[in-house]
Amino acid sequence: MNRYGKTFPSFHTIYRLVTTLTDLTSFGAGICRLFRSAFKADKIVMLIRLPGTTSFLKIRLDGKEQQIKKGGKSILTRIEREILKQEREIIFNNRLICPFIFENTLGAIYVKRESRAKSFSEIERKWFLALCEEVGLGLKIFSLLQEQQKIMVNYIKSLSTFLTQYVPTSHLHKKALPKLIKEIGKAMKLSEAQIKSLRHAALLHDAGKIKLPSNLLKKRKPLTDDEYKLIEKHPQRGVELFRNLEILKPTIPIILHHHERYDGKGYPSKLKRDKIPLGSRILSILDTFDAMYFGRPYKDKINLEKIIEEFKRQKGKQFDPKIVDIFLKILKRKSIRRHLGSFRK
Ligand SMILES: [Fe+2]
Repeated sequence: MNRYGKTFPSFHTIYRLVTTLTDLTSFGAGICRLFRSAFKADKIVMLIRLPGTTSFLKIRLDGKEQQIKKGGKSILTRIEREILKQEREIIFNNRLICPFIFENTLGAIYVKRESRAKSFSEIERKWFLALCEEVGLGLKIFSLLQEQQKIMVNYIKSLSTFLTQYVPTSHLHKKALPKLIKEIGKAMKLSEAQIKSLRHAALLHDAGKIKLPSNLLKKRKPLTDDEYKLIEKHPQRGVELFRNLEILKPTIPIILHHHERYDGKGYPSKLKRDKIPLGSRILSILDTFDAMYFGRPYKDKINLEKIIEEFKRQKGKQFDPKIVDIFLKILKRKSIRRHLGSFRK
């Protein structure tokens, strides 16, 4: 009875993993843990063909140890390559192997109990095959979502290129900044989804300026108070542009609050400290760095040492002090300085 009780929730778990996760590694790791618990297995190996590439993802659970590898065919053993060529399940007493097929082979799973004495029962084999069919469907949905994501990312890039024609400083340096975002993400242990939203926000945060008069954006003389008030509307205008785009939903709070200050003197909502979305606190540092390092039509470039001094002065005032410390540590690296320098004319 206990076994029956475990099987039906397993189908629900697969459905939940497909509908809530956005990356294949977490999906695969979740499936491996599910199969280990549902079949009381000692070892699980899951192989996934990465959609649109010739690479593979291999997740291995051995006891409590988990190993994840991504790469070409060389990460597969000879037996694993053979398994991927199979078009149907292979069943032994204490081993169950099944490819995930949906139109073509999307991957495979290998489930093993160490002791030959602990054979899988007939009913367990049937559950195994039914669950594998469900996982195959899940992998197909993942690859379709990935296709859709690619289309949306290309759309965002085209939109940002279009914006550059109208508002030359509407995005952060397209080639130089993604690496900084990645390094900050790594240092702050951000999730892939958080890094992705930050990347989108870096491209689109000033898009709302498109709704401002163009003579105001091109003005090189100091702005009047009224002109400042108009400029300060650009975060809300940006949000109005993207409100209905599902993929940009997590990016919207970052865009809306990218001009807040840590001390509460920013705009539009005068939010303070950690009331400001984390992505906005990071973006505001990157935005300021970008303006100082690469310059603006109305502002000269500033050298890196002076920029670092300015960030130290603004710790706890304009910027989150912890993020400034992380950022300045990254800026100390020679490889980062070389990378940034290569984009500075
Ligand atoms: Fe802005």
